Amino acid sequence: MSFVGGSMNLPAKSVTGDDGHPLFTNSKQTELQKYPKKPTVSPTLAELLMHVDDAQNSPVDHRAVEIGYGCSSLPSSNPFFLCFNNLTYSVKVRKKLGSIPFCGKNSDETESNGINTKILLNEISGEAHEGEIMAVLGASGSGKSTLIDALANRIAKDSLKGTLTLNGEVLESKLLRVISAYVMQDDLLFPMLTVEETLMFSAEFRLPRSLSKSKKKARVQALIDQLGLRSAAKTVIGDEGHRGVSGGERRRVSIGIDIIHDPIVLFLDEPTSGLDSTSAFMVVKVLQRIAQSGSIVIMSIHQPSYRILSLLDRLIFLSHGNTVFAGSPGILPSFFEEFGHPIPENENKTEFALDLIRELEETPGGTKSLVEFNKSWQARKNQRNGFSMRSNLSLKEAISASISKGKLVSGATNDSNPTASVPIFANPLWIEMMVIAKRSMKNSRRTPELFGIRLGAVVITGIILATMFWKLDNSPKGVQERLGFFAFAMSTTFYTCAEAIPVFLQERYIFMRETAYNAYRRSSYVLAHSLISIPSLVILSMAFAAITFWAVGLAGGLSGFFFFFLTIFASFWAGSSFVTFLSGIVSHVMLGFTVVVAVLAYFLLFSGFFISRNRIPLYWIWFHYISLVKYPYEAVLQNEFDDPMKCFVRGVQMFDNTPLGEVPLSVKLKLLQSMSGVLGVNITGSTCVTTGKDLLVQQGITDINKWNCLWIIIAWGFFFRILFYFTLLLGSKNKRK
Ligand SMILES: Nc1ncnc2c1ncn2[C@@H]1O[C@H](COP(=O)(O)OP(=O)(O)OP(=O)(O)O)[C@@H](O)[C@H]1O
Ligand SMILES: [Mg+2]
Repeated sequence: MSFVGGSMNLPAKSVTGDDGHPLFTNSKQTELQKYPKKPTVSPTLAELLMHVDDAQNSPVDHRAVEIGYGCSSLPSSNPFFLCFNNLTYSVKVRKKLGSIPFCGKNSDETESNGINTKILLNEISGEAHEGEIMAVLGASGSGKSTLIDALANRIAKDSLKGTLTLNGEVLESKLLRVISAYVMQDDLLFPMLTVEETLMFSAEFRLPRSLSKSKKKARVQALIDQLGLRSAAKTVIGDEGHRGVSGGERRRVSIGIDIIHDPIVLFLDEPTSGLDSTSAFMVVKVLQRIAQSGSIVIMSIHQPSYRILSLLDRLIFLSHGNTVFAGSPGILPSFFEEFGHPIPENENKTEFALDLIRELEETPGGTKSLVEFNKSWQARKNQRNGFSMRSNLSLKEAISASISKGKLVSGATNDSNPTASVPIFANPLWIEMMVIAKRSMKNSRRTPELFGIRLGAVVITGIILATMFWKLDNSPKGVQERLGFFAFAMSTTFYTCAEAIPVFLQERYIFMRETAYNAYRRSSYVLAHSLISIPSLVILSMAFAAITFWAVGLAGGLSGFFFFFLTIFASFWAGSSFVTFLSGIVSHVMLGFTVVVAVLAYFLLFSGFFISRNRIPLYWIWFHYISLVKYPYEAVLQNEFDDPMKCFVRGVQMFDNTPLGEVPLSVKLKLLQSMSGVLGVNITGSTCVTTGKDLLVQQGITDINKWNCLWIIIAWGFFFRILFYFTLLLGSKNKRK
């Protein structure tokens, strides 16, 4: 636990608080001056955080200061220890068709009724302590990630056997979630934000509102120094298209996001994979500092370099889900010597061990001998040492003490019950919404091309439609063309929404990572996501409506235009909600596009344009009612044709589109005369035979009036947003079965 700041050659940089006092510093000297009574125990960052200006106003901070610096009764060694016993996890796998029975069957598979049970973890036990890094090692497929998942409570309860305790008490998953952090292997970050902004947003999500903005900033600055990111602080994260920070820096930013609240237990799955040895060393060095600031760090690692090994405190070697070694790196030589395979001088100890394990795995007996040897070794060790170190603090006391020291920044309240004092979410819903919206807007402002492409697509489609359907007249042909224009225009609005799928999908993974550990509520994400989509939808629909309305010669003047615009806007809203919902259930961009295209094609088919409602077979009529294209199509048709004074087919036009269309006008007039005689109604060449209302009846558009159509479209949009919320609830459990 003794952590001396500045151990990593970082620039001696200090941050100044509201009152002008330095809040954080990496300078060893200044720290020592500031805390003369405890020269070897450096305060945690959050502790410093609480020490600033308004400590007097807040009883919490005040208490923190007293306990943190004045009280020597605080246990100086290892208050936290995580203990796991006999963790066993197996999955059922279907026997592969055509598998060769005698070839390559793993010893960890048992078979019954064609279903194999594959044991991924087999009675794994061990301990991890505060101030230390525990590393899980093993070949690819040995079960490292699975063990980390098991420890981080990412495996469903009923599938995982064994016990997991913190300070001797069974860990409730809710509590673990609050006091721990899990750093995923992928760096899922907003590419257009800088390192500093990324961490600042994380601080705004994770740290409580009661903490002033300046303290949050101070925490971020301290973290930047702790992570060794000072020189990259103002650089954007970057992605394939934009140059940004280096891979090692990205990884450290990812870690930073998850530890902004100073968690007590930190899990990392291969934090060094894909990094060169210097960057990997930097990352583990950062982890060591985090551990020393009062956390338990548990990580998996493929092949630690010699230098990295010197930073690790405990190792667990896995082979096919079995423990083959557990202990400190120091005892590796004696362990393997006793096993009969001494590690040669000057050889990298872990490399030797991993090679030996791999060789054994290839022998017929597998690693069984080593597994057995390890068991007896552990038993002997336990006998020798008595049972391992125990803390004299209960879990609640330990958490309280930790909070008082400034850990778990989000949980600092005056409550004596630590579970209660660690709120599930740091901020109320509306703050979360604001921060999410702010971040999203910042990111899209820096990637204007994304919106530019959507606007471009809408404008080009609008121009093509405007020129194709230029100034339609009110003849029977013009009416047909108007119907075509409406059907096409309404389905286009939905199609252009599909362009947002990749963006939504990318965001979804960031969202899953953030909500997995309670950065914010899912509902705030859904609400913020909906709200910030509105301005861009207004622009898109205004552009489309303005380009097409007068060019095509649509009816209704200004109020007609306004309704046309509203309908387009509502369609964009419903379409984007639908696509958002879809991005919640499909995991791949191509699949997303395929589904959108297929579904929209059916929506168009059943919209009433190709076949009017009264001609749709009864058993398909339900599809007509769920067709998203039906409502905007009917709304704009009614907007177009509801003028009773307008005529669309006059007497002579009755013969258009029929074999009689080509006969001379005088013949047509004669025909009309004789028809009048037969019908007993006088029909002249200019008599109106079909009004707009008649057209609507012909199209089967009689059931819902235009304003109701508009409300229904908007309601569909809300409906899909609600569905989206539920898919997030169900889909982002982040747990293995
Ligand atoms: N759902 C599953 N069904 C069947 N086998 C599984 C399942 N999940 C994991 N496995 C298997 O369990 C083993 C351990 O997987 P795990 O991801 O823990 O390995 P790992 O040690 O992390 O490997 P790597 O170093 O490549 O990341 C692998 O052989 C993997 O194929
Ligand atoms: Mg893995």
